[in-house]
Amino acid sequence: MTVYLNGSFLPVAEAKVSVLDRGFIFGDGIYEVIPVYGGRIFRLPHHLERLDLSLEGIHLANPMTHGKWQTVLEELVERNGSSDQSLYLQITRGVAIREHDFPHDAEPTVFAMSTPVAPRTADIAAGINAVTVEDIRWKWCHIKAIALLPNILMHRQAVEQGADEAIMLRDHFVTEGAASNVFIVNNGVVLTPPKSNLLLPGITRDLVVELCHANAIPCKDEAISEQQLRSADEIWITSSTREIVPVVRLDGAPVGNGQPGSLWHRLHHLYQDYKQAFRKGRAD
Ligand code: PDD
Repeated sequence: MTVYLNGSFLPVAEAKVSVLDRGFIFGDGIYEVIPVYGGRIFRLPHHLERLDLSLEGIHLANPMTHGKWQTVLEELVERNGSSDQSLYLQITRGVAIREHDFPHDAEPTVFAMSTPVAPRTADIAAGINAVTVEDIRWKWCHIKAIALLPNILMHRQAVEQGADEAIMLRDHFVTEGAASNVFIVNNGVVLTPPKSNLLLPGITRDLVVELCHANAIPCKDEAISEQQLRSADEIWITSSTREIVPVVRLDGAPVGNGQPGSLWHRLHHLYQDYKQAFRKGRAD
């Protein structure tokens, strides 16, 4: 696997970062995960905009222009060959003596890698189990920070209970999944929590909302209470790596009739059609 590190493309085994990197020492950095379909980078401008918001959130200037990012990421995708990939990029505040205050002269560390992925539509259709957990994270969850220990521990809690995702509740309202955004369907209306500092503004979330609007499916940004979640007809989670996944059991109880719902089928097909068009260069 070829990766990109601070201006060079090199084999992953040769890509080395100092132990004093603030990403390693403090988790002082941000990241993006971007799907690649048919060799094309999906929704790159949206991801680069969110990257800017994350960088602004941690007071770090973007070390590269959007044009340069595009050139680097396209070259990385090309060097890694396969048609469908998952791109990962990370920027940290760089190497400095360990001190809480920002260093004055550190160069940010810029890293990107891309791994091949197999099309994963077959396993989505069965649906997944989810559990609810208390959202114990900080209140700047709109920043895509590399410090993911709370998310990892919550996901672990889900796995220990035989589930695939943890859905977080803050003060009895849904925020998001450990690595996903959450949607519910109630009486034919699709609901997702409004964007705020309490959740990551998912690129997949935005596309699902767009697809609903374009296809006259009622869809609202609206707070979802724990009670609404538990009585929802359908629950879905969304992310760049998982796309739209139906949740068929929540805390052991069936969601709706315990099968992926009809609106999930509809959105899943719309999403797959959009991806197909994108692969052929007919969608952005
Ligand atoms: N995570 N919320 C959280 C906490 C996430 O980690 C993610 C995705 C999302 C969905 O965002 P998007 O649709 O832009 O992928 C929401 C990525 C996939 C990850 O950490 O691997």
